[in-house]
Amino acid sequence: MKITVVGAGAVGATCADNIARKELATELVLLDIKEGFAEGKAQDMMQTAALLGFDTRITGSTNDYAKTANSDVVIITSGIPRKPGMTREELIGTNAGIVKTVCENILKHSPNAIIVVISNPMDTMTYLALTSTGIPKNRIIGMGGILDSSRFKYQLSQHLACSPADLNAIVVGGHGDTTMIPLIRHATWNSVPVSKYLSAEQQTQIVNDTMVGGATLTKLIGTSAWYAPGAAGAALAEAIVRDEKKLFTCCVSLEGEYGQKDICLGVPVVIGRNGWEKIVDIDLNDEEKAAFNKSADAVRAMNEVLKTL
Ligand code: 2OP
Repeated sequence: MKITVVGAGAVGATCADNIARKELATELVLLDIKEGFAEGKAQDMMQTAALLGFDTRITGSTNDYAKTANSDVVIITSGIPRKPGMTREELIGTNAGIVKTVCENILKHSPNAIIVVISNPMDTMTYLALTSTGIPKNRIIGMGGILDSSRFKYQLSQHLACSPADLNAIVVGGHGDTTMIPLIRHATWNSVPVSKYLSAEQQTQIVNDTMVGGATLTKLIGTSAWYAPGAAGAALAEAIVRDEKKLFTCCVSLEGEYGQKDICLGVPVVIGRNGWEKIVDIDLNDEEKAAFNKSADAVRAMNEVLKTL
């Protein structure tokens, strides 16, 4: 397997480091536009191989896509991260051009790759990747819901004083501070609904804290988070290359599913070697359906901004 990570910033480098340690690919290319930046980080990671015992061959490239040729999976993390107080949506003016250029290069050098989009605003960048490349929809996957669901489980585990691994909890909708929908009604602790153990106030607090999970860290750190986003990107790559048939919430093209079309939005999907292989229908009550449609409206409005750039 060959995997390319575009963007050697904090998220991209962390994603690459996770991929290398998990030995998801024999060949891993880290690419960045900044002279020597990806080469340096690739060498630094390779210098952990003797210590960590992985045989992944990591190489860095300064904007030479020939080195990424014939990648099976390409993960796009390039673009600027947000600063404290910014929304992910405010990054569109800068990041849309970057992501479009990256997609053109991927199409030229790895036309059969599965593309994972992490760059923000992720839902709209995923839509841009789909519409600008014409790559079959199953090979375009936005990574947001995996990260948000992991943050959801973190918040739940803090209140339940339990292992996050014993929780089943998903976030659907957009990957935005106001567009994501943590489905607390569906969340379970070892198959028991969490509502049995949490008050209504606690559940509301957990949902609200999950929605601003990224913004909270950006305020603390001064820039976007990277450990969880990087690990979430690697988890998605793992489900693809190992054909795990994992059920994740990912941003994918909807053509009528969940009552939406001509949009990329976070829904439960089965992930395997062919990309996203099936959209899984879950029951949403009227309140959840209304929130999902409101989320879709907000993401669609962001997609419209692409036409003005
Ligand atoms: C986050 O939520 C970077 O969008 C990513 O941290």
